[in-house]
Amino acid sequence: MTAVKHQTIVVLDFGAQYSQLIARRVRENNVFCTILPYDVTLDRLKAMDLKGIILSGGPSSVYAEGAPRIDAEVFKLGAPVLGICYGMQLGCKMLGGKVGAVRNREYGRTDGTVTDADELFADVPINLQLWMSHGDSVTELSEDFLPLVSTANTRYAAVKHRRETFYGVQFHPEVTHTPHGSTILRNFLVRVCGCSRDWTMTNFINESTARVRERVGAEKVVLGLSGGVDSSVVAALLDRAIGEQLHCIFVDNGLLRKHEATNVIRNFEAAHGLNLHAVDATDLFLDNLEGVSDPEEKRRIIGHTFVDVFKEEAANIKDVKFLAQGTLYPDVIESFSAKGGPSSTIKTHHNVGGLPAELGFELIEPVKELFKDEVRKIGLELGLPESLVWRHPFPGPGLAVRIIGPVMRTSLDVLRDADAIVIEEMHRGGWYRDVWQAFAVLLPVQTVGVMGDERTYENVIALRVVESEDAMTADWVKLPYDFLGHISNRIINEVKGVNRVVYDISSKPPSTIEWE
Ligand code: XMP
Repeated sequence: MTAVKHQTIVVLDFGAQYSQLIARRVRENNVFCTILPYDVTLDRLKAMDLKGIILSGGPSSVYAEGAPRIDAEVFKLGAPVLGICYGMQLGCKMLGGKVGAVRNREYGRTDGTVTDADELFADVPINLQLWMSHGDSVTELSEDFLPLVSTANTRYAAVKHRRETFYGVQFHPEVTHTPHGSTILRNFLVRVCGCSRDWTMTNFINESTARVRERVGAEKVVLGLSGGVDSSVVAALLDRAIGEQLHCIFVDNGLLRKHEATNVIRNFEAAHGLNLHAVDATDLFLDNLEGVSDPEEKRRIIGHTFVDVFKEEAANIKDVKFLAQGTLYPDVIESFSAKGGPSSTIKTHHNVGGLPAELGFELIEPVKELFKDEVRKIGLELGLPESLVWRHPFPGPGLAVRIIGPVMRTSLDVLRDADAIVIEEMHRGGWYRDVWQAFAVLLPVQTVGVMGDERTYENVIALRVVESEDAMTADWVKLPYDFLGHISNRIINEVKGVNRVVYDISSKPPSTIEWE
């Protein structure tokens, strides 16, 4: 089967902070969008059903030596081009305009006036708020250009080329601080590019199951099911595609949350009738971790032990040809790095719990074109419970990186009980869905307390609750004092071995989300 060609919008990336956001905004309009480095070959672009091109922003100045630029032929591909910020300046310069540093740099909210609505500003008020972030501007344009929007400091805040289908906007329509930005992007997609808006999650499920069926034939596929969103969605998708030929391996490493193992088995084996091979490898993991304090060493041991257990279980299944993984789009984007050249954004510690290529399987990564929010939508469409689809991320090395110092069975029990209270209260208080992660950390210190008339000398639990977009940066959540007090009371009263709870008020950077 030849791969289905979608109508595609390509974001050519010049190292913008917002390239992924642009792609997500396009996809929210049910139009497929992919991010490629600005210097992608014309042949690659020509091989697509290309409906439009968006030139992203970027940190360079178009007039600087060696500034990134596109092949002039990009304007001749028959697909309209929208330049945003740097992309606008580059497009205007290549089509005969002049760009220079401006005296009054504009950062943040700016008022703009639409002087000519054209297609791009249809259904948008004449006076609108724009979000700007630039030190350079287009300063001179020929008669070939039609100015569309101006601000007090920027004559050309949005322009159109009269002959080439090129639009440029100096502001950022993709951010929510530009209130009519989504209408402007939709105008580009629908009115200018003529996209039919048929890239839906239902179509994605149908196409990807057909693709998997075709590729797998009668062979067997193994999948490491962790209980997290990504592997669960892949399991449900492959179950729909190939049913019995899918074998899921769930490794209980003894470092999971309370009742986690039982829940995964119940959700998948009982509710979905999935071919599930559950292995309780708790003893092996804990023996291997004995006496180990260094966080990276813990990760290494857990990673290797996981691979060994997985390999053995896969060998028991016999004649497996494929390995499925829940790789997501942000892990594989070929974007332009300001440090030079294309880069991929894989974080090393995120490979813990991943499987090495030497296992000798062919890889199937059915959701690698999708962002996390899209994977969640698919999970819901495939009938996974909301509680699973909206689960917070949980690190591969599990509670081992939330017990500071050596991991012992007794500390795991204490942490599990404290963690369960945190999660239960976050749900009850209506906070769970609003935060990125909420968890407890067990500290390797004992402090003095008093319970009844007794002096106690017991453990400290730290609470960590953060908000974040992508885990690259994070801020601690300003939970109400009463609520924090309630959680603290419950932990101290109900968890044997804890007499003190503290709240972590550090942001990332300079701290990290996990304590190890
Ligand atoms: P940090 O602590 O680096 O965490 O701010 C960022 C995000 O990554 C998760 N995390 C991990 N996930 N294996 C994983 O699969 C790991 O070793 C690991 N360490 C941190 C963390 O929970 C947060 O969401």
